[in-house]
Amino acid sequence: MGIGETAIGHKGAGQWVLCKADDSAQPIHLDSMEGQIGPDVVDMRGLYKQAGVFSYDPGFANTAACQSAITYIDGEEGILLHRGYPIEQLCEKASFTDVAWLLSHGELPDARQKVRFEQGLMAEAHLHEQIRNFFNGFRRDSHPMAMLCGTLAGLSSFYGNQGADQRHRITPEEREMSTLRLVAKMPTLAAWVYRYSRGLPLIYPRPGLSYAENCLHMLFSMPEAPWAVNPVLARAFDRILILHADHGQNVSTSTVRTVGSTGVNPFACIAAGVAALWGPAHGGANEAVLDMLDEIGTVDGIPDFMNRVRNQKDGTRLMGFGHRVYKKLDPRAGLMRRICHEVLAELGMDHDPRLELALKLEETALNDEYFISRRLYPNVDFYSGIILRAMGIPSSMFTVFFAVARTAGWVAQWKEMLESRPGISRPRALYVGPTRRDVPPSYGVEG
Ligand code: ACO
Repeated sequence: MGIGETAIGHKGAGQWVLCKADDSAQPIHLDSMEGQIGPDVVDMRGLYKQAGVFSYDPGFANTAACQSAITYIDGEEGILLHRGYPIEQLCEKASFTDVAWLLSHGELPDARQKVRFEQGLMAEAHLHEQIRNFFNGFRRDSHPMAMLCGTLAGLSSFYGNQGADQRHRITPEEREMSTLRLVAKMPTLAAWVYRYSRGLPLIYPRPGLSYAENCLHMLFSMPEAPWAVNPVLARAFDRILILHADHGQNVSTSTVRTVGSTGVNPFACIAAGVAALWGPAHGGANEAVLDMLDEIGTVDGIPDFMNRVRNQKDGTRLMGFGHRVYKKLDPRAGLMRRICHEVLAELGMDHDPRLELALKLEETALNDEYFISRRLYPNVDFYSGIILRAMGIPSSMFTVFFAVARTAGWVAQWKEMLESRPGISRPRALYVGPTRRDVPPSYGVEG
């Protein structure tokens, strides 16, 4: 194994020409592709055919795995656009269901589409009664993401497109229906996960409530005491959902596209996205932020904690900071900070010690050489946990509601992937294991 000679390249008219450094080999001509905005892309599809080599890009940090018209991110400038619209404007002017429609259909819904979509979501929000039985198989203290992932995959047996016919190809009508069903059913499933873990009666979606209001109703209502709608909290929750709705080709979305490329049932496909989202380096970060704040305790604990992060000895990280793409402030983090102040003011918690600690920690990190030199800024998860906890949502449920929101993006990306007919996802590896060898004659069952 070795690095070998460096390939060098230059761009000609719409093409990249790569040659070995010593010019000993024939040049390789690869097409250059231009997006609407953002850097050009070198089309690597001819690489192996022309040169007999593969490209190496672990983590896919330099690789465009698909063409997409859904989300554009400029991490250097801190820009996030959905179908061209800046996240700041969507957060101010649209509802989560508008954004879900936008992601899947390319345009904001007109008045008629909006009404029909919201009616459709309400009609599909119920779960098959048999799904109640699924929960009895789980320990009540299971992580809610384990239950969400399991029950969601199980839904494929109720709402499957494939039925008994494994060769069935998902039709455009089935794609539309699955998109609607998944966005509609996720809040009910999420709320039932919570209710089951607490031993509380399961609550059904209520017509007349908005999507966000229904999420809170199904979490907090009791049969004898329905949740009293609070418009400030409902709008805050709606905006949290918007801020988590899609984020380009992140690990869970890439997982959904990869799994979906096999033609599998969409519920199983989205369950795979939920599994990918669960990890603390991805959607589990907001839960980890609160654990971290609890561990630090008070502002007096910050210097000690920061020393541990800087020393990098025990792997301590400042959770809610850093991002694979953003090397400037994540635009969602600024919006989330504003929502945090609004929610805490509404709840009379503006002097919450955890908020004070988070603000001080953020300020300390933003002025610290370790974070400045590595371009580490708060990400969307730094404040979301504080808001959700203040609203009475337990931290183990944070990632579950992230999954509810991200389902809007996952289904849009899944649909786009199917429409582009990309073929099955199948990366290669640089093989570094033993070369061919024989099993020792002394090993194994005597024949
Ligand atoms: N705290 C301390 N140091 C950090 C942090 C952090 N949060 N994030 C990155 N670093 C350091 C790394 O130790 C590394 O330092 P080195 O160059 O001295 O080795 C350098 O910054 C680069 O780090 P990478 O891990 O290479 O950065 P990458 O882009 O791969 O990681 C990630 C991104 C996983 C999000 C990382 O920043 C992290 O672990 N953050 C904390 C978890 C978190 O908040 N995740 C949520 C992400 S947003 C989302 O999924 C919705």
